Amino acid sequence: MQTWAIYSLKGGVGKTATAVNLAHEAAAAGEHVLLWDLDPQGAAGWYLGIDSATGLSAKKIVAGKAALGRHVVATAHERLSVLPGDRSYRQWDALIHEAKSPRKVLEAVIEPFSETYSLMILDCPPGIGPLATAILRAANRVVVPVVPTPLSLRALDEVIEHVADKKVGKTRLRPFFSMADRRRKLHRELLAAPPATMQPDIGVAVDYASIIERMGEHRAPVACFAPRSRAAAQYHALYSALA
Ligand SMILES: Nc1ncnc2c1ncn2[C@@H]1O[C@H](COP(=O)(O)OP(=O)(O)O)[C@@H](O)[C@H]1O
Ligand SMILES: [Mg+2]
Repeated sequence: MQTWAIYSLKGGVGKTATAVNLAHEAAAAGEHVLLWDLDPQGAAGWYLGIDSATGLSAKKIVAGKAALGRHVVATAHERLSVLPGDRSYRQWDALIHEAKSPRKVLEAVIEPFSETYSLMILDCPPGIGPLATAILRAANRVVVPVVPTPLSLRALDEVIEHVADKKVGKTRLRPFFSMADRRRKLHRELLAAPPATMQPDIGVAVDYASIIERMGEHRAPVACFAPRSRAAAQYHALYSALA
């Protein structure tokens, strides 16, 4: 099983939109996908039509006492299941910090899913604490949406430093430009000449597009309600570049 984390230290950069659309692309391509919504707000599950929280506390999960598999919910999409978020996920950082092997907490709970799924996608909350370290360690790919602005690029620098500091090892960062607005000169310039930290060059950007905001109305991935949109094509290309 591959584990892809959709992660950034920043909020509002398109992590959840990316997680939901990539999960759907992967399932459509034949993968057996489990999307774990690690964010207490639970938006990823909600976008896939799931209203329930798991009722499974972060405390139990971190203690290794949760039967996570029983809380998986099937979605309306073939081969795509979700582990919904929970409000208790607000406490991830404090709980993981106190755990015996904080860095291995997620690896340990994710491992059993490899019997059933070929791809686990983690929709991560923003932040760069103990949860982020555990995520960086557990994931084969860390997909980082970067809005083409200097501030967002600085956040990427911080993540790169964190990866080096914490020696999370085989983690592979996959930054890509997200919410790119080609009407803005600054965005165009950064897209044309990405800084060295945007390596390896994934060659795909997801543009700023109001159709993506409409996922909230349809509660579905873009490809389901706007299959011919540029946004759907870009998520498809992003999945192909990562797979
Ligand atoms: N490429 C995009 N173009 C336009 N709006 C987007 C795009 N990606 C995400 N959004 C919108 O921006 C907001 C934040 O996106 P979200 O995916 O929730 O970010 P994050 O998970 O990083 O906080 C949401 O309202 C979402 O609909
Ligand atoms: Mg989110």
